[in-house]
Amino acid sequence: MSTFIESCEFLTDEEGDIYVNMPDLHCERALTRLLRSTKWGAHPIVVLTEYSLIKKAFQHPSFQGRPDFFSYRIVQRHRKRGVALSDGLVWSENRHFLLTQLRNLGMGKTFLGDAIADEASLLMDHLEKACLDRPVVIDSALNTAVINVLWMMFTSKRYDVGDLEIVQYVQVLEKILYVSRKKIFLLDIIPVLPKILPMFILNAFFDFNVGENYFQELTKMSENKIREHLTSLDPDNPRDIIDYYLLEKTERDSNGFLTHFDAQQLCGMMNDTFLAGLDTTASTLRWMMLYLTIYPDVQAKAHQCLDEAVPRTRLPCLADKPRLAYVEALVLDVLRLSSLAPLLMFHRATDDVVFEGYTIPQDTLLMACSEICHKNKSFWQKPDQLYPEHFLDENGKLDSDKENFIPFSVGRRQCVGESLARMQLFLFTAAILHRFKLEAATTTSLKSESDPATTIFNRPDRFELVLRKRN
Ligand code: HEM
Repeated sequence: MSTFIESCEFLTDEEGDIYVNMPDLHCERALTRLLRSTKWGAHPIVVLTEYSLIKKAFQHPSFQGRPDFFSYRIVQRHRKRGVALSDGLVWSENRHFLLTQLRNLGMGKTFLGDAIADEASLLMDHLEKACLDRPVVIDSALNTAVINVLWMMFTSKRYDVGDLEIVQYVQVLEKILYVSRKKIFLLDIIPVLPKILPMFILNAFFDFNVGENYFQELTKMSENKIREHLTSLDPDNPRDIIDYYLLEKTERDSNGFLTHFDAQQLCGMMNDTFLAGLDTTASTLRWMMLYLTIYPDVQAKAHQCLDEAVPRTRLPCLADKPRLAYVEALVLDVLRLSSLAPLLMFHRATDDVVFEGYTIPQDTLLMACSEICHKNKSFWQKPDQLYPEHFLDENGKLDSDKENFIPFSVGRRQCVGESLARMQLFLFTAAILHRFKLEAATTTSLKSESDPATTIFNRPDRFELVLRKRN
C-alpha cells in the first residue's frame, strides 16, 4: 500500500479528481498537461509508476476498458471496432480472432522466421546496392520490409521497395500517426473543445479533416483488399487472415459483401495491426541503428558475437538464436532504453474497483509509465545507457525475464504482436549487423534523447548514418 501512496501523492482533491505525484523523468511534462485537464473536469487519471502495481492493475478484469476519447471515437467512427481502441465484447472477440490467426500463421514459429529472414535478406541487398558508403536516412526501405511481413499475413502479398501501392499505404499510415501525435490529444483531454469549437478551427488547429480523410482512405484500401479476396476465395485453401475471416463470417449483405458490422471489424483489425505494427517495429529498429553509432563498443561486441556464431556466407536465422545471446540482449536493451510507448496505452476502469485499498471510480483512466520502470535507477545498472549486459547473466547467457521490463505492456491487453515484433527485431538487427558496420554521418553528436512531451510513441528524430560493408 505504501508504494501506491508513494507513486500517487494524493488520490482525490476538493473537486474529486484523482491526482498523482510523478517522480522525475521524461513523462513529467506530458503529465502536467494531463493533470491540468482533470481540473477542467475531464478524465480522472491514476498514474502507475511501479512495476508490481502496473502488473497487478493491468491483470484486473475491470481495468481493461479504453478511454472514451474524442480521437478514438473518430477513428472507430462512433462504434467500437477492431482491437486496440475498442473494449468489451467487440474487443475480446476481435482480440481472440487476431491472436489465433497470428499464431496459426506462424507467430513465434520457424516458418514465419524463415519468411522474415528472407525479407531481411532482400532489405540487406537493397541497402548494399543503394545506400553504401554515403550518408543515408534509412526510412522507406525499412518500412517496406517491416510492413511486408504483416501484409503477407493479411493478404498473402509482398512488395518490392518503391512499389507504388505499398508506398501509398505507408504514406497514409504515416499521415495518420503524424496527426495523432499532434495537438489532437488536447481534444481528448478537454472533451468540451470539440463540442464548442467550429469545424474550421478544428481543421485549422487540429488537422481534424486531414486525419479523417486519411483514415477514410486507409479503410477504403482495406475494403478493396477484402473485395479482391472475396472474388478469389477458395474455402478449402484459406491463404491469409482475410480469408480466415471471410470463412468465419458467412453472413453476406445484398451485394454479396460482408455485413457492414463484420466488414468494419475486419477493416478495424487491419488498420489496428498496421498502425500498431509498423511504426513500433520500424522505430525500434531505427533507435537500434542510432544507438549503435553512438555506442561503437556495443556494436563491436555484437559483431564479434555474430562472427563466432554465423558464417559470412549466409545471414543469421532463428536457429542461430541460442548462440546470439548478446544480439538478443542488445534488442531487449534497445526496447528498454528507447521505451517506445513510454506511457503504454491508457486503460479505463469499467466498474468501481477497490484497488490497493482505494476505490477507483468507474471511467477513471489508468496511465502506466513504462519508461519509469525501464529507467529505474535501483533496478538497472546503467539505466540511461545502452548496456546489453542488463539482459545477460554472469555466464553470458540470456536472462530476459526481468521485472521492470514492459515494452509490450503486461496483462490482458498485452501487445498482440509481441512475438512477431520480437522475431522481426531480432532477425533484422542480426542481419544489419552481420552485413554492415554503422557509422555516424556527422561529427556532431546525434540526439538520442526522446521528446519528453511524447504521450504516444517515442520516435527517434530523422538521422543520417553511413553503412560500411563488412567482409
Ligand atoms: C516494437 C514493437 C511493438 C511495441 C513496443 C508494441 C507495444 C505495444 C503496447 C505498449 C501496447 C499497449 C498494451 C496495453 O494497452 O496495455 C500494444 C498493443 C497492441 N499492439 Fe503492439 N507493439 C509492437 C508491435 C506490434 C505489432 C508488430 C503488432 C501487429 C500484430 C502489434 C499489435 C498490437 C495490437 C493489435 C495492440 C492492441 C492490444 C489490445 O488492445 O488488446 N504491436 N503494443
